[in-house]
Amino acid sequence: MKSVLFVCLGNICRSPMAHGVLRYKATQLDLSIRVESAGTSAFHAGETPDKRAIATLKHKGIDISDLRSQQIIASDFSSYDFIVTMDEENQINVKKLALQSNSKNTPKMLMNYAYPSQNISVPDPYYGGQQGFENVYKMIDLATNHLIEELKK
Ligand code: 4NP
Repeated sequence: MKSVLFVCLGNICRSPMAHGVLRYKATQLDLSIRVESAGTSAFHAGETPDKRAIATLKHKGIDISDLRSQQIIASDFSSYDFIVTMDEENQINVKKLALQSNSKNTPKMLMNYAYPSQNISVPDPYYGGQQGFENVYKMIDLATNHLIEELKK
């Protein structure tokens, strides 16, 4: 079974949204994959996703209230096939961690699945309003469709 770990900074907004959207789509498609998410920081470890993230996805029929924030750890590089980062800063930090862990598992930015090599970041919605979360959802919805094509291979 293929496995995916989404990574952002706090693991309460963007990566749990990506986690929930991919988990939902995989279930709909009867695609057997393991999905998880983590933060580069432990700021919010143990917490549920941000209530705005939960509400945004609830409107799409997707429940992420069961998810809990956790920090990425070195063994994740050998546990997951795909390590998928949400923005350029996450990508830099996760790459550093991979190097420190002597891992050849290279992280890839989520939007590069939709727009190869363009290094488009999913903007951090934490300090903004609800619209930022809608924008994050749209970007995740598009890019996960492309990621699913990779997972089917
Ligand atoms: P996330 O958003 O990385 O998408 O989960 C953030 C959540 C919390 C903070 C920053 C970004 N924070 O600074 O607490």
